[in-house]
Amino acid sequence: MTASLHRIVVLATGGTIAGSARSAASSAQYQAATVPVSDLVQAVPALADVARIEAEQVAQVDSKDMSFDLWARLAARVAHWSAAEDVAGIVITHGTDTLEETAMFLHLTQAAPVPVVLTAAMRPSTSLSADGPLNLLDAVRVAANPAARGKGVLVVLNQQIHAARDAAKLHTSAVDAFGSPIAGPLGFIQDACVRFTRTPVGLESPRLPVPETWPMVEIVASYAQPGTVMVDALTSAGAKGIVVAASGNGSIHETLAGALANAAGAGVAVVRSSRTGAGHVAIPARPVPAAGIFVSAGDLNPCKARVLLLLALAADPAQGVDAVRLQATFSAY
Ligand code: SIN
Repeated sequence: MTASLHRIVVLATGGTIAGSARSAASSAQYQAATVPVSDLVQAVPALADVARIEAEQVAQVDSKDMSFDLWARLAARVAHWSAAEDVAGIVITHGTDTLEETAMFLHLTQAAPVPVVLTAAMRPSTSLSADGPLNLLDAVRVAANPAARGKGVLVVLNQQIHAARDAAKLHTSAVDAFGSPIAGPLGFIQDACVRFTRTPVGLESPRLPVPETWPMVEIVASYAQPGTVMVDALTSAGAKGIVVAASGNGSIHETLAGALANAAGAGVAVVRSSRTGAGHVAIPARPVPAAGIFVSAGDLNPCKARVLLLLALAADPAQGVDAVRLQATFSAY
């Protein structure tokens, strides 16, 4: 290790990358979020050739249990470390299950002057062919690379670099579980070579504040013969927003669309995303939610659209009843 290497901070939150199993042959039966970040770093001696690593255990959770509170804590640690004079980049280790939501949250809220790179693993650290060590090394390589500056929050897994707004988990168990549907990866890593092949979108508008109070925003799905009970209950419970995991190009069953139009009439912001996993939901010429013409989430999947709706409504609650402005927000990020 030499003093001339960049200082990179690793913020650990848990996940399978910090998971352990009784048997090295097991890649599906294990406990996530058990191995401390100091051990994860120690297990990759090659890190010492790439950067001076400082590790901080921000949390130790299975990411299925991600919370707004932890998002806020993580944002505060990113802000803290990115303001430190000699920190060249930040790596966040995370579970894969909700990584795309945390990545979207950080994409929307962080304007860090240094690269912020999320990474994870599909196999626990004790597994044969664990993927965590290489993913961690690659994430540090990207965070330490000057070409990663100004590209927003990034996601690195399986030798690919993704934009945080685009990255999604697309497979339950494969090592190449992550992709960027439609957009494709931003770049790739091969040993010391870090190469960007396109520039990310959604970085021009000002970042949104981390909410002090989070509005209730939930997701409902459209499918054959849906009931209206969930939409009606959410409206009565005071929900400020509903994202619809709609079929196809944002189509919504007429029964559900009627209930959503009523919800919109009662002041609930309604956004259409697609449950297909890829493609854009057509943007209406003019959204008129009370008439069933709802705001489009564009290419954001339902969970990512929910993160944007949460932050947009927290920052500016009036957007909940101004669908034209809300559509502009969805088109900007
Ligand atoms: C988790 O999301 O924390 C568990 C699953 C994983 O990391 O792959």
